[in-house]
Amino acid sequence: MLWEVGTPWTVEEIELDPPRQSEVRVELLAAGMCHTDDHYVTGDMAWPLPMIGGHEGAGVVVEVGPGGRRLAVGDHVILNYMPICGECPSCQRGRSRLCDRGAAMGTGLQISDGTARHHARGQDLHILCCIGTFARQTVVHEDSCVVYDADIRPEVACLLSCGVVTGWGSSARAAGIGPGDTIAIVGCGGLGSSAVQGARLAGARHIVAIDPVAFKREKAQDFGATHTAASLAEALPLITDLTRGRMCEAVVMTMGVGDGTLVADAMAVTAKCGRVVVTNAHPERETSINVSLADLTIMEKQLVGSVFGGANARADIPMLLDLYRDGQLDLDSLVTRTYPLEDVNVGYADMHAGKNIRGVLVM
Ligand SMILES: NC(=O)c1ccc[n+]([C@@H]2O[C@H](COP(=O)([O-])OP(=O)(O)OC[C@H]3O[C@@H](n4cnc5c(N)ncnc54)[C@H](O)[C@@H]3O)[C@@H](O)[C@H]2O)c1
Ligand SMILES: [Zn+2]
Ligand SMILES: [Zn+2]
Repeated sequence: MLWEVGTPWTVEEIELDPPRQSEVRVELLAAGMCHTDDHYVTGDMAWPLPMIGGHEGAGVVVEVGPGGRRLAVGDHVILNYMPICGECPSCQRGRSRLCDRGAAMGTGLQISDGTARHHARGQDLHILCCIGTFARQTVVHEDSCVVYDADIRPEVACLLSCGVVTGWGSSARAAGIGPGDTIAIVGCGGLGSSAVQGARLAGARHIVAIDPVAFKREKAQDFGATHTAASLAEALPLITDLTRGRMCEAVVMTMGVGDGTLVADAMAVTAKCGRVVVTNAHPERETSINVSLADLTIMEKQLVGSVFGGANARADIPMLLDLYRDGQLDLDSLVTRTYPLEDVNVGYADMHAGKNIRGVLVM
């Protein structure tokens, strides 16, 4: 739980109410430690506190509330960080990552009736992204669940809640990369490593992985990067040389904390009609970026945002797990270390120290 900005996560007993209308109680097996949770600790992003963190998780349904339509006790579920109603205009247009149910998400309360199922120290608790996976059990709406086959290890299944799909999709969907293209991935943690694999699967010719940490650059090569650089500035002459000055069809930004002063550098390695995809989260207080908009007009360059990598959970999660089973997508190597729930702060310290592609809490 996070009680105040700037304080460590606490691990303590909570009270959990039974599921109400269309809700389920889930026993979590594993939860991934995405960088996004840390933005609420640093204050770069805000969520109502106190809250149970975590928005990557896989578990088993242990109780179904009244009116539940889609799930049964014993179902293995990946908890999706955006609920999907399937019926709103966004869902109907194939953009379930932008489901209108998301409008109620920021309250940190249940989307069914706006109340809390989680309580501690005599107070209602908020949950991150309608799920709050840094817990042994949680109660969520059935719309937050995607069923998966129980033979997949929970340590890797949980990464499909966010990091893997968002990273893969940033290359394959949001950037629209294709065979023969050149792509640069800026920041090679959990998302960037998956973006490298997305580019490889899409047939990119040159995949330039950019990260200041040598371990991340080495791992990126295992995931399919053809070249590496420690910074965008270092990548500029490399990409110029590789492409005879035509530069990258796409540049995917997956740094730990987005930095508006680097957007011009990203545009500089982008080709005519190329696309810079902003997947990393920028601090909410950052409202200006450094870029010449002439790049957009004269060169038809594009600067676009992406949530969940432009992917759709109920279609893309099963598809990516099939690619994992076939040996085409490496999920095992994304999990650098596992931790017990009590060591969540150690896991985030290791993330900051550049030791992990992904740290995973095993319940
Ligand atoms: N848009 C979305 O839907 C979505 C979903 C999940 C996460 N995110 C965001 O994506 C970002 C990445 O998340 P993650 O979990 O992969 O983080 P991470 O900490 O695992 O990886 C970030 C990487 O960026 C590298 N880095 C830091 N500064 C850099 C720089 N100047 N140039 C190049 N690389 C640099 C770090 O060394 C690290 O390897 C975070 O901002 C996170 O909040 C967005
Ligand atoms: Zn995430
Ligand atoms: Zn919807």
